[in-house]
Amino acid sequence: MTTLIRACRREPTPFTPIWLMRQAGRYQPEYRKLRERYGFVEMCKNSDVATEVTLLPVTQLGVDAAILFADILLILEPLGIGFHFSKDDGPRIDHPLRTTADVNAVASTIDAEESLGYVLETIKKTRSGLPKNVPLIGFSGAPYTLASYVIEGGGSRDYMHTKAMMFGDPGAWNALMEKLTGAVAAYLNAQIKAGAQAVQVFDSWIGSVGPSDYARFVQPHMTRLFQLLDRSVPVIHFGTGNPALYPLMRAAGGDVIGLDFRCDLASTWDALGEVAIMGNLDPYSLLAPRAELQARAKRVLDAAGGRPGHIFNLGHGLFPDASVDQVRALVDYVHEASAR
Ligand code: CP3
Repeated sequence: MTTLIRACRREPTPFTPIWLMRQAGRYQPEYRKLRERYGFVEMCKNSDVATEVTLLPVTQLGVDAAILFADILLILEPLGIGFHFSKDDGPRIDHPLRTTADVNAVASTIDAEESLGYVLETIKKTRSGLPKNVPLIGFSGAPYTLASYVIEGGGSRDYMHTKAMMFGDPGAWNALMEKLTGAVAAYLNAQIKAGAQAVQVFDSWIGSVGPSDYARFVQPHMTRLFQLLDRSVPVIHFGTGNPALYPLMRAAGGDVIGLDFRCDLASTWDALGEVAIMGNLDPYSLLAPRAELQARAKRVLDAAGGRPGHIFNLGHGLFPDASVDQVRALVDYVHEASAR
């Protein structure tokens, strides 16, 4: 078993494995070069290019896992929800969903092999290009995060329309969440079947809800999602923005809980109990001088205290202004400082 998978299973490892959310992206000159030739979605759909981009950080950084190069919004196409990436404001949904009729028009199931076959191709090609000791992580957006995009029409500060549906029309809300949950489960299971050795559920915008609304409007769907998933591989459940949600997320499911940087890793882990933990360095630590970056990484390692089941990661994704040198220095430091 690889170091990352051992850590997901809370088995002792010779060092703390590390990978980084958004480890493939615009901070890499090689990525920017490819991006001059292809649109972003075009890159995701071209399994040769997507494989090349997935493999890039493994050789460049020496990370302990690859993460599939794709995007959480790709699943919207087979659901019948049109979107595009605009140059300045990120993802845009062509016709945001606001009513019961809008929700009814969303497909009830997806055939991942047929409609997202290019992602499955990327998984197969990446697996054959990866060294044996580096597993491939597949992923999907979580139902809430996907729902927030399709209802708001893009990113949001306040999630006003999402909450208007959740609080004002729970029937439409639950119908949408059920459809998204079924589709996410089918998509992740297809990724696992194609060769993904772990999968991560990104609930990136879940921090916009409070704990009692999570329990009422989100948790039942997340519980169902984890029940539907093929559990032959570890599942990472990642959420950001509201540390009060972690106990509820843990109760919903996942072998690993991914923490953002807003919580204290040591006390959060104590409170969550017997589960593996991923995290949680503030990504902007990479902008600090090298010694300060290392001191901040050490604090995360110290908070984990060598407990089996820690996977080092940033508390959220790498950003375009990060320097490759500094990112590589972080990976090297975590390997050296955690060697047991
Ligand atoms: O982590 C990786 O290296 C794998 C690739 C990956 C991407 N998106 C590539 C990407 C993953 C795992 C994602 C997930 C994703 N996509 C999330 C959840 C993760 C998180 O950050 O919380 C979200 C919210 C999205 C939606 C999304 N995709 C947004 C909001 C944007 C625009 C913002 C931005 O960074 O440009 C994207 C575009 C995107 N996804 C890029 C990449 C490399 C940049 C595209 C480009 O080259 O212009």
